Amino acid sequence: MIQTDASSQLSPQDLAERLAGLHPDLFVLDSSDLTGRHPGEHPRNLEAGVLAQPRSTEAARHLIRWCGENNVSIVPQGGLTGLVGGNVSRPGDVILSTSRLNRILSIEPEEMTATVEAGVTLEALQQAAAQHGLTTGIDLGSRGSATIGGMVSTNAGGILAFRNGVMRHQVLGLEAVLPSGDIFSDLTRVVKVSAGPDLKQLFIGGEGAFGVVTKVVLKLEPQRPYRATAMLGVADARAALSVIRRLRTLPGVTLEAAEMMWPLYIRDHAKLKGLDLSWLEEDAAALLIEISTGSVEGAIAALEEQLSDMWEPLALKGGIVAKTLEQARRLWDIREDSGFYYAEIPEAASFDVSVPPTYLDCYVAQLERRLRALDPTYAAYVYGHVADGNLHLTLIKRGPLPERELRAVENAVYANVGEAGGSFSAEHGVGLEKRHGYETFTSPEKRALARALKQALDPKGMFNPGKVPF
Ligand code: LAC
Ligand code: ZN
Repeated sequence: MIQTDASSQLSPQDLAERLAGLHPDLFVLDSSDLTGRHPGEHPRNLEAGVLAQPRSTEAARHLIRWCGENNVSIVPQGGLTGLVGGNVSRPGDVILSTSRLNRILSIEPEEMTATVEAGVTLEALQQAAAQHGLTTGIDLGSRGSATIGGMVSTNAGGILAFRNGVMRHQVLGLEAVLPSGDIFSDLTRVVKVSAGPDLKQLFIGGEGAFGVVTKVVLKLEPQRPYRATAMLGVADARAALSVIRRLRTLPGVTLEAAEMMWPLYIRDHAKLKGLDLSWLEEDAAALLIEISTGSVEGAIAALEEQLSDMWEPLALKGGIVAKTLEQARRLWDIREDSGFYYAEIPEAASFDVSVPPTYLDCYVAQLERRLRALDPTYAAYVYGHVADGNLHLTLIKRGPLPERELRAVENAVYANVGEAGGSFSAEHGVGLEKRHGYETFTSPEKRALARALKQALDPKGMFNPGKVPF
């Protein structure tokens, strides 16, 4: 049996003292250093009170070996942007932060690859790649803080997934330190490797339960700087998918983003941010699209032309094309600052599901009915990456909900997503907060296999204990 509570009896202060001096490349912060530090997206992320920052794989290995010998559990942390409590730590744990593993080791412009340490932020890699006219094939709103290692560990998705797939499809190779302290090194820089099972996949989406990712080789792609952005009114996801299909099949145009916000979300957020919605019909949802072409004037002209061609056949319900970068940024802010509602409804229950895109309207209608059946006052903010069927949903009610109510809401949100060919967790992982979803909507056989793998790699249950319930 895997022990689920390997947490040591040592106090954070004892742990900090013992770890200091373990390796010259290991920096250790204790509770006094951590006081006042922002815990990231979960208030309990830094509760361990001791945070170790290796500056090399060797230092991470020493730390992990020492923790193994002393039965101390480890919580790996990157940019702390995770939304499901996957970074929560407790006194007795040691946090292994990748913040000093922040070097870009190489960029190969001809191959369009980058090799980076795990703590490099997505934005830092984007900036470095831009020097070579390149960018990452994955992008998301928290680019300034999210680290490549954390994005690997959660198999992050984001804005470009409809075109490029998720993190799993961008990773060519990686290095990780296993709970045993051994190094799993698979830093291949090629797309084609058919040499037995692809074991690195275990660490992609493994949420730090099988080891700590220390280096990553990623694909890059050409920058496409000539952009045009518009927000359109659409009746439903079906109309949005028609717009998307048209723009994806248009020669000379690349669809860069297609993000949808259902009416309650767009209305409430626009009001909060002072965005004029007089161009949008009252009952419409909003579709934010961005395209790129060969020149900036060409992009805006192409988008305007397409919109006027689509206007009647697709029954668009309004539209606005950004004429300046500042206008485009304001439109994007309405989508990317998606936590706006937490000021009014702190700790609101939030979900991240995927369904096949053509099922979205049916799913949203069923969900609204199911929520109202639980409580006639229930409503949800619905928004997300419509082109790949990934919805973010937030119950418009202050949280946390009592356990029974939360379970009922979870069951309403998750009902049918698996049968429809989707997932109860699309891109945010399982962590602590989606455990019920994992236990209820993952088959017993899959869970047993995951447990067997966990048992083989981490028999004492020392890595990120209590998270994905292996
Ligand atoms: C987003 C985050 C919540 O897409 O995944 O806004
Ligand atoms: Zn998202």
